[in-house]
Amino acid sequence: TAAAIAALALGAMTGAATAACDDGEVVIKFSHVTNTDKHPKGIAASLLSERVNEEMDGKACMEVFPNSTLYDDNKVLEALLQGDVQLAAPSLSKFEAFTKKYRMFDLPFMFKNIDAVDAFQNSEAGQAMKDTMQRRGLQGLAFWHNGMKQMSANKPLLVPSDAEGLRFRVQSSDVLVAQMEAIGGIPQKMAFSEVYGALQQGVVDGQENTWSNIYGKKFFEVQDGITETNHGVIDYMVVTSTEWLDSLDEDVREQFLTILEEVTKTRNAESYEVNQAARQAIIDAGGEVRELTPEQRQEWVDAMKPVWEQFAEDVGQENIDAAQEINA
Ligand code: LMR
Repeated sequence: TAAAIAALALGAMTGAATAACDDGEVVIKFSHVTNTDKHPKGIAASLLSERVNEEMDGKACMEVFPNSTLYDDNKVLEALLQGDVQLAAPSLSKFEAFTKKYRMFDLPFMFKNIDAVDAFQNSEAGQAMKDTMQRRGLQGLAFWHNGMKQMSANKPLLVPSDAEGLRFRVQSSDVLVAQMEAIGGIPQKMAFSEVYGALQQGVVDGQENTWSNIYGKKFFEVQDGITETNHGVIDYMVVTSTEWLDSLDEDVREQFLTILEEVTKTRNAESYEVNQAARQAIIDAGGEVRELTPEQRQEWVDAMKPVWEQFAEDVGQENIDAAQEINA
């Protein structure tokens, strides 16, 4: 059909995995912003669409639009509410307009590694976070992992004072603004799709991100080097609209949620390895990776951790305590 041909043409243009949906199938459009390979979210999204298209053939089909080809993260939640897409997986930093609870995940040095993040998310308090936006029409379905964040700039960063006066791109999160101010930086909120150009043109001097994002979007090519700080986390909420989820036949909904749960388990278990592979790929491509001595790392902790106090009320002291217990 003409629609199928148009869908294929769009797929070729955007690199999206188009399924050429059949009549009568529930269409699930999944919009995200990262690359597709060597990336925890990209790989998980591809696996999810493969499984839905195979196992739910005749009932549902999924098209994935990666690399911000359809929406930026600051538009995609509205698009979900409008019914223009059915699935998204923005980082937890991008939900500020809908909930302040996710600020927990942006607080620097809150979690010692991705296993600690996983344990917190799987606690009762973590699981309840999936439901905190229901009254705003959004339903969280699953936490997907990316990994720990690293710092980069157009000059070497070994101690926080190296960041003094530098402009840093941050995601749209006030916690991250406070974090960069705490080290004397000048934070600038910016969409992910604009970061490479902004670094290249000197609109900003530095940024923070995971190995897979720094590799996938080639930030290392336009930075002096990457400092292995592991100071924070980028993780995702796979999210849909309550209205769309409620509109599904029960068997379709159950099968879809089961596949999503299985993909989540499988891919979250691999996220660390995917990031370590991206770290190595950066080095292989000639990127500079700087490791910190314990003393240098402690300086970053001391400079950034006071930010917790500013946001303790939003995230709940009991959650901070629970996270620290998991780290111990
Ligand atoms: C960012 O904006 O840096 C990240 O949230 C991008 C992503 O989806 O990992």
